[in-house]
Amino acid sequence: MRKRNKMNSTLQQYLVTEKQQIENPTFVKWAGGKTQLLEQFSELYPQKFNRFFEIFLGSGAVFFNIKQKFSPSQSFLFDINEDLINTFKLVRDHVEELIPLLREHRDKDNNREYFNKQREQFNTMKSGLEKAAIFIYLNKTCFNGLYRVNSEGKFNVPFGKYKKPAILQETKLRMASKLLQNSELLVANFAEAMKRAKENDFVYMDPPYFPLTKTASFTSYQKDSFLEEEQRQLVKEFQQLDKRGCLLMLSNSDTQFIRELYEGYKIHTVKARRAINRIGTKRGKINEIVITNY
Ligand SMILES: C[S@@+](CC[C@H](N)C(=O)[O-])C[C@H]1O[C@@H](n2cnc3c(N)ncnc32)[C@H](O)[C@@H]1O
Repeated sequence: MRKRNKMNSTLQQYLVTEKQQIENPTFVKWAGGKTQLLEQFSELYPQKFNRFFEIFLGSGAVFFNIKQKFSPSQSFLFDINEDLINTFKLVRDHVEELIPLLREHRDKDNNREYFNKQREQFNTMKSGLEKAAIFIYLNKTCFNGLYRVNSEGKFNVPFGKYKKPAILQETKLRMASKLLQNSELLVANFAEAMKRAKENDFVYMDPPYFPLTKTASFTSYQKDSFLEEEQRQLVKEFQQLDKRGCLLMLSNSDTQFIRELYEGYKIHTVKARRAINRIGTKRGKINEIVITNY
């Protein structure tokens, strides 16, 4: 009897995990990822819209959520990170070929030596299925799932020392692939990406956050930084899209500077669990803001 209960609870755990993976099939960890905010966001989405645009895609948490809730006729997904966008494209188009490559990485001993070898290889490879598999492997095994490149554009995040990294998540990958069908994936700077949005399209923007303090470096995704000047340029693009009749939603940190930039638009507060010290070991709840024009 006891044995059967134990089996039931294992099965239950498995089913819960499966359900969570289907509901939220983000297959990469990403700094500033929005998975934890989706419940609060569901109150803030517009009720009706035409096509969906996501300008700073990252892990795609918001796209996966929107696609399941609204089934927009078309989605346009952009990020400046070429490796990320290429990986998304291969998940969309070749998931069944990607899975065995990830299985090989999973079945190797996850140690620093293997990691360093893969990272070295990644930095010399042209885009393709093998590079996408290494991208996912590195994302799951590197320090905090960060993506950071040096001045030569080489990925340089160190080994993360995880005991059981989730290198292969077949359910998530297949679900992500299904949801990505009929989506265009493009490498683009935000201003370029926004050009294609039209009246009644819904545009979600999650730029690298404006730092809460001068020393906080939330913006080290790419060698290009995203500071005051870029935030000012972004608000100009936001105003253009507003005039064009798009429905706009933008996330950012809760700072006086950002509140002043978006004065006149609706500003909502959400609560997020984030690393609150520089090394990322201490976590706490902080306010973040969501700006909408509807
Ligand atoms: C805060 S993250 C987005 C996180 C995402 N919403 C999620 O849930 O995972 C910001 C993203 O913006 C991208 N990015 C940085 N600068 C950019 C730029 N100038 N134009 C377009 N994308 C940019 C980064 O590569 C990063 O993926």
